[in-house]
Amino acid sequence: MKLKIWTISLLISMVIIGGCSAKNADTGGNMDHSNVTHDGMEDDMEIGHMSHNNPLALNDSTGENDLKIPPVLEHENDEGLVYYLTAQKGNTEVFDGYQTETFGYNGSFLGPVIRVNQGETVKIRTTNELSEETTFHWHGLELPGEGDGGPHQTLKPGDSKIVEFKVNQEASTLWFHPHPEGKTSEQVYKGLAGLIYIEDENSKNLGLPSDYGINDIPLIIQDKKFDDMKQLNYQEAKNEDGTIGDTLLINGTLNPKLTVNKEKVRLRILNGSNARNYTFKLNTGDSFVQIATDGGFLNNPITLNEIMLTPGERAEIIVDFSRYDFTSEVALINEDETILLLFNINDRLSDSSDISENLNDFTVSEEERNLPVSKKLELAGMGNGVTINGKKFDMDRIDLTQKHGVTEIWEIYNKPDMMGGMIHPFHIHGTQYKIISIDGVEPPKNEQGWKDTVAVQPGEKIKLAVKFNNKGIYMFHCHVLEHEENGMMGQVKVE
Ligand code: C2O
Ligand code: CU
Repeated sequence: MKLKIWTISLLISMVIIGGCSAKNADTGGNMDHSNVTHDGMEDDMEIGHMSHNNPLALNDSTGENDLKIPPVLEHENDEGLVYYLTAQKGNTEVFDGYQTETFGYNGSFLGPVIRVNQGETVKIRTTNELSEETTFHWHGLELPGEGDGGPHQTLKPGDSKIVEFKVNQEASTLWFHPHPEGKTSEQVYKGLAGLIYIEDENSKNLGLPSDYGINDIPLIIQDKKFDDMKQLNYQEAKNEDGTIGDTLLINGTLNPKLTVNKEKVRLRILNGSNARNYTFKLNTGDSFVQIATDGGFLNNPITLNEIMLTPGERAEIIVDFSRYDFTSEVALINEDETILLLFNINDRLSDSSDISENLNDFTVSEEERNLPVSKKLELAGMGNGVTINGKKFDMDRIDLTQKHGVTEIWEIYNKPDMMGGMIHPFHIHGTQYKIISIDGVEPPKNEQGWKDTVAVQPGEKIKLAVKFNNKGIYMFHCHVLEHEENGMMGQVKVE
């Protein structure tokens, strides 16, 4: 209510000044909509879907808080590379003077960054200190199915389990989050998410910005809806077509700003939201370069003016701040101009080297391009009615089988629904795949790299070259977490 009065008075004052921008008018409009009853919309499903096409507006960041940088998880040297990771409950002061009940890993909200090197054998001792079951899923990591942390591998409250794997993939920014059947969306929403950085010889020799927290910055982007008591009431906020919030948190920081030097800064962006898609750009209209996709570096840096990330996707981009000075107003904004992150530019000039033109040797072979489609998946429905090939997830049903080490072409079709449809971010566990084509056409340059989650637009057919290097049972699903929860998920058994 308070917020509404504030918005109205803001609008009035802007009209008086005569500077009512289209965007602010929209914000007011959207807020009014959320209180309007939709005549003729009998079930929640449709309302949810409607609101998804015209999602709740996000508030602008005022920039009053310094962006929090997640701690790097240290490993214990005496027993080899052992990391300790505990899922726990806690209280977090997101808003000044309020304690919000949250979940976190080794802390009250979100988790640390786990840094590992290619070739290393890593042991992670995972512990569940929540009062409900959870799992530890490593999104984007190629490891045997038994360590993947899908819904079969639950840890009861109080239980611990060691997950061991060899890092067999290239430098990339991955993440981890829970995956228990029926509880994934709520646990992520309450704060369970963290990052994994894989480094390799290539990433260490490219001369990319790699000073953690200085010019190599993780950005975990999430929207939340806080209730009047500033609590994350998931059941209240929940939308069957994807829970959307009006409050943006980056690394758990409300109203974030980041102080940078006049140099090239690498942003490792994770869309860790339950459902919201973002199109990131700079308020100045300047371009930036993308250097990495979900699972590794692009072959060459790609210059972009904006980049869309759907839930689960990551991108590494480099913004050159040497062209600005401390008077410049620079911000990372969303498609609709919402301010996501303000930059405060230091006058300290650091010498930025040029970004190497050759970052990787990702290829799609002729053979891969010509392989016939051997697996077809149709994503359909909305709200509670979402399915894959007409079926809802069943823990006891294996939907597909594949041989390890053998590439197969999966064709993913997003069948439009009666409301037109929505984007489904399609994710497969335990593998990094290649996008062969989107509606028969080669993917854009910045998607010609390793992916584990891909945005499938309504009506689109995407061909993926999928190879598993390990055996086990892996999930594939829509990464709108409420869709996943509602059954838009299946299992592939890799033998
Ligand atoms: Cu990031 Cu099955 O999920
Ligand atoms: Cu979906």
